This record gives sequence, structure tokens and C-alpha cells, in this order.
Amino acid sequence: MTERHDQNTTSAHWARLGQVMRDLDWALRTESYRHAAGAPHQPWLPAEAADDPLYHLLHLGESQAAPPPELAAALAELGLYGASERGHRTAGHYFTAFRGLVTVADHHGRPARSGVYLGEDGLAFTDRLLSAHAHGTALDIGSGSGLTTSALAARGLHTTALDISADCVAATAATAALNGLAQRVETAQADATKTLGGGERYDFIASNPPGVVVPETLDYGPGGNGGPDGLAVVRAVTGGAPRMLRDGGTLLMRFESPGDARGPRILEEIFEQAGGSSVFVTVQSRLPMRTRSGLTALRAAAHNPELSPAELLRRLDAHTDALGAESFYTSFMLLRRDGRARREVHDLTGRRRTAGPVSARPEPPNGDVSQLPPGVTGLDWQPHLRLVRERWDDAAAAARRQGALDAVVAEVFGDAVERDPVHSRSLHALLSGLPGIA
Ligand SMILES: C[S@@+](CC[C@H](N)C(=O)[O-])C[C@H]1O[C@@H](n2cnc3c(N)ncnc32)[C@H](O)[C@@H]1O
Repeated sequence: MTERHDQNTTSAHWARLGQVMRDLDWALRTESYRHAAGAPHQPWLPAEAADDPLYHLLHLGESQAAPPPELAAALAELGLYGASERGHRTAGHYFTAFRGLVTVADHHGRPARSGVYLGEDGLAFTDRLLSAHAHGTALDIGSGSGLTTSALAARGLHTTALDISADCVAATAATAALNGLAQRVETAQADATKTLGGGERYDFIASNPPGVVVPETLDYGPGGNGGPDGLAVVRAVTGGAPRMLRDGGTLLMRFESPGDARGPRILEEIFEQAGGSSVFVTVQSRLPMRTRSGLTALRAAAHNPELSPAELLRRLDAHTDALGAESFYTSFMLLRRDGRARREVHDLTGRRRTAGPVSARPEPPNGDVSQLPPGVTGLDWQPHLRLVRERWDDAAAAARRQGALDAVVAEVFGDAVERDPVHSRSLHALLSGLPGIA
């Protein structure tokens, strides 16, 4: 009884904070700064993105200027407000907002407080959730910060959210309360690889499962860990979730999969498991596995402090080479339990459009963030983009001779790789449009 009372009180405090944020139009401000930065799905912007003390306090966790008293009071009720001569703080809690929905999560650029991940993938997926035809009841598998759960609830769906992490379950409940949606959201801590398949039926199931390829010899946070082939949780969702749909119900999943020039490896399994349901897949992006491993090494560093960056990369490369994974794909799938068994795959990666004769002469990538390969923006790509532009003709000549990205990078950019083995993995993605590279 006491615990229930405490939960209700906490939920009421989050709801009050959410009301204060709405009164201050905080979500709208965040969206304006994000669009001005040209990064429509980037949840965490740098300090320079806005000269707004409110934004600095809530988004970056600190501000020199005192917040409005009602915001300080609402944060203080949750034990999140600290003020000293060094400034004003939110006790390691960071807030961002998307399409009018506020969410609490860890900030990429700050030391993680808990392991509540929110990335560009989450915002892109939320966009899809807000576009899909949906009604009735929903299940969100791997709810994370709870932005996706709140998006479903905001559309009027009574939503159950599950996550393996207790911190994520708490963040999902807090986010629902922040958005004034607590009445429509239930949360549960559960492992999708053990619990999906039976029980309750839903009209709509959403999932953005972790899909990073992580060899057993490395530790990694659960937010992204997809196991040794990256597909452990994706398989749990594609195997179990369709059986939890009511007739006519929909499963919308964003998923990652290693693959090769033919496409994402998991597609065949998805089609086999879908049986009589219709499946519509869009393959959104393709990243060289070497670049993905650079990102993975960057994020694995904190979990494996005894290993050098070069050793992390060595293990990841050996592992992904053994898997035969040259590329890392991101896709969206819509599965409808309609008894029609239709199959559609749309490859939007541009492979077909740009695949031309070896003599084709594409330009080096420009610096427009929205035009860069996804995943590169997690790495320090700017110095490497400068190098690519300076040495583009040499790289093109090397590509014609060598035909393999690893060889081109080693021949033309060996100095950059030596200086910074992890961030120089952005080179593979920046060079992937070279003539002659598959
Ligand atoms: C990529 S995040 C997605 C979070 C959120 N839905 C979004 O789109 O921003 C994946 C989430 O799945 C959770 N997760 C990982 N393995 C899981 C498992 N076996 N069962 C349930 N949740 C899992 C993680 O804790 C993480 O919150």
C-alpha cells in the first residue's frame, strides 16, 4: 500500500513537471532548435544549438541562469533540482522532446546515469509510429525512455510497455506521466526473448529492438546489444509478436541486421515466420560494417575499460568478418495479420540508383549532416570528411585499382587511421560512394 502510494505521488510529481514544461512551451522550443540545427531526428543537441537557459537546464542538465520558480519547484519535488555558485542542475536527468512529447533519458554527450538510451533511431521510429494506422490496444517491446510508448498512448491506444531494464521501465512510467498519459500506460519489466508469444492479444505492437552485433568476448549496454549476430531480440519479436496480434492487427518494427550486397540477412527468416500475415519492408540505410564497428567500439569502451580502442576494433572486425557481414542495414517492417501473406521489400538505400559503371564520377560527400550516411554522425566525422575531400581523386584512383574499402583506406588514409583508429572508421562510410566500390 505504501509503495503504491509512493508511486502515485511520484507519478503526480512527474505529471506536474510535464505541465510546467507545457506551460513554458518547452517541447516546441526543442523542436525549433533541432530543426535549426538541421538534425530532425537528433535527440541530443550541443550547447551551441540554442542560447536559451531553459533549454540548457533541461536538455544539458545545467544552466548558469536561474530557471522560472515554478520549474525549479517542480524539479525540486522530484529531488532533481540543485543550485550552487557553479549554476543550476537537474541531478543527471536529461530531457528532450519530439513532436510535442517530452521524454527523460540519458544524454549521449554526458556520463550515463542509468542506461536509458534514446538515439536518432528512437526519434525516427516515433515518427513512423505517429504515421501508422493504429487503434485499440498496444504493446511496446523494449520501451526504453518511453517516448515510443507515449507516442502510442498519445494516439489514444491503451499501451503496455515492457523492457528488460528496471531503469527503462521507470523512465517509461515517468515519461508517460510527464506527457499526462499515465492513465493509458502500463509498464512491466520482462525479457522479450523469454516472454513473447502467448497471453494477451493486442491491436498494435511496436518494437525498436537492440541490434548491435556484439561478440561474446565484449561487454555492452543492453540498450543496443543484439547478441553475437545482432539478431537475438529481433528474432524474439518476429517469432513471438505476430502470435500476440488480434486478427487484422499490426506489428511495426524498426530493426537492424548485418548483411551483404544482397541485403539484410534477417529478411528471409522474417518472411518464413510471417506465415499468412502480409509483410511490407523498407530498407532505409546501409552502413559499411567497419563504420558500424567504429561506433560499437566507441560505445563499448566504457563497458570494457581494460581493452584499448585498437583491441576492441580488432575483436569486432574478426567477429564480423567471420559472420560474413560487410554491411549493417536499418529497416522498417510493417506486418499485418490479414491472412493475405503478401510480401513487399523496397530498397531505399540508393544502391540500385547509384550503382553505375566504374568510370562514373560521383562527388565527395558534402558536409550537410542530413545527407551524411546515418551512423557517421555518432563519430567525429568532420576532420575525416575534410581529408576525404582533399584526397578524393587519390581515393578514386585507389578504388579503381583495389576495389575494396579497407584497402583504399589503408593506402590513402593510413596516417588518419594511425592517429585515431576509432573515429577514422567514418572514412569507410564517407568513401562508400566511390566509383568502383560495391
Ligand atoms: C533501441 S532501444 C529502443 C527504445 C525505445 N523503444 C525507442 O525506440 O527509443 C531498445 C530497448 O530494448 C530494451 N531491451 C533490450 N533487450 C531486451 C529484451 N531482451 N527484452 C526486453 N527489452 C529489451 C533495452 O533496454 C532498450 O530500452
